[in-house]
Amino acid sequence: MENFTFQNPVKLIFGKDQLGALPNEISKYGNKILLLYGGGSIKKNGVYDRIMESLAGDNLETIELSGVEPNPKLSTIKRAVDVCKSENIDFILAVGGGSVIDAAKAVAIGAQNDADVWDLITKKERPSGALPFGTVVTLASAGSEMNASSVITNWETKEKKGWSSPFTYSKFSILDPTFTYSVPPEQTTFGIVDIMAHVLENYFHHSLNTPVQDGLCETILKDLLETGPRLLENPDSYALRETVMLNAVLARNGMLNMGSKGDWATHDLEHAVSAIHDIPHAGGISILFPNWMKHVLDEQNEARFKQLAVNVFSVSPEGKSNHDVALEGIEALRNFWNLLGAPQNLSEYNLTEEEIEAIADKSVEAKPAYGKFKKLTRHDSFQILKASL
Ligand code: NZQ
Ligand code: ZN
Repeated sequence: MENFTFQNPVKLIFGKDQLGALPNEISKYGNKILLLYGGGSIKKNGVYDRIMESLAGDNLETIELSGVEPNPKLSTIKRAVDVCKSENIDFILAVGGGSVIDAAKAVAIGAQNDADVWDLITKKERPSGALPFGTVVTLASAGSEMNASSVITNWETKEKKGWSSPFTYSKFSILDPTFTYSVPPEQTTFGIVDIMAHVLENYFHHSLNTPVQDGLCETILKDLLETGPRLLENPDSYALRETVMLNAVLARNGMLNMGSKGDWATHDLEHAVSAIHDIPHAGGISILFPNWMKHVLDEQNEARFKQLAVNVFSVSPEGKSNHDVALEGIEALRNFWNLLGAPQNLSEYNLTEEEIEAIADKSVEAKPAYGKFKKLTRHDSFQILKASL
């Protein structure tokens, strides 16, 4: 294993009917709240009314800001930072999926510092703290509720930037699986794809002596193979929704990379795609991941691909070369995501050959090579993108 330090201060409040905890949890930090949410799903599914009910009568004043978009935009973050500053907001309550939670992290840091929020995100300026914030999760996917990471898109510079800070852990996260009943099938699929991708990013590493970490990854993946198709058939199943919700947290709260260094090249490449052409994060991941796997598979690393194929996808290794077993595993992953209805080609989002040149450039803008399991250059990015078109 690699040396590591692990600290995760987020208080998770998981299960049915937990909103009653909100007033107590919030009033530790003040009484003027910014309620941040997305495009309105929380109004349609009743979550908004339940939040307002639980906040009523506790001397809490709420100001709302809605319209946080999937792949949250810097312009929206700046609008929210201005509101926090002009209204002297004490606490941000983010209600939604990864986009709203990621936005809250950026708003929290922008509101507490004089520097421009993009300079804080891109680390040109150092933050001295952040406004406290909490989350109510409505979508099992990004796992942002129990980590310090955030992804923000600056459309002026065409950058989709992943960043984190020690100040961007939420004070609490409330996860009620019933709030995810209304997630439509396509978004449910995207959630499962993204969670599996987070596990796979952690799984592809070269660190030694990691049977526990690898076993945890394999367990989550197998659980999702089993749960995913049943959940699409039974979207109101509490048991299936809670399973996926917990897996989303475990895949991204730092537990899976204790002592190992995962790859994350596919996420970097997806961020380059979305910076040029706005597509759903997990849509891009679903297209790119199997092509990344095929691209990097070689004699030195095929044992790990074989382990995935055999332990997760039950590929029989009998009488086959390691390479063939590895390829069967990649095919099994592709087939599973197809079965869930996830996209397979970038052209499904109308991406063009011209755009993939620009995406390949973008993928190496920050540094000439990226990815830890196997270093990728611009040429590699282009090959993977071309195979994905
Ligand atoms: O905006 P509303 O109206 O709320 O609708 C959302 C949105 O359209 C909808 N939705 C959410 N909860 C719902 C619901 N619809 C019906 N019922 C509900 N209960 O779902 C749509 C997508 O939401 P979004 O928050 O964008 O999805 P997700 O949670 O997958 O987050 C994606 C973002 O997270 C970033 C991605 O880059 C992307 O910007 N990521 C953040 C990570 C992190 N912070 O650790 C890691 C991830 O790899 C990812 O990169
Ligand atoms: Zn992701």
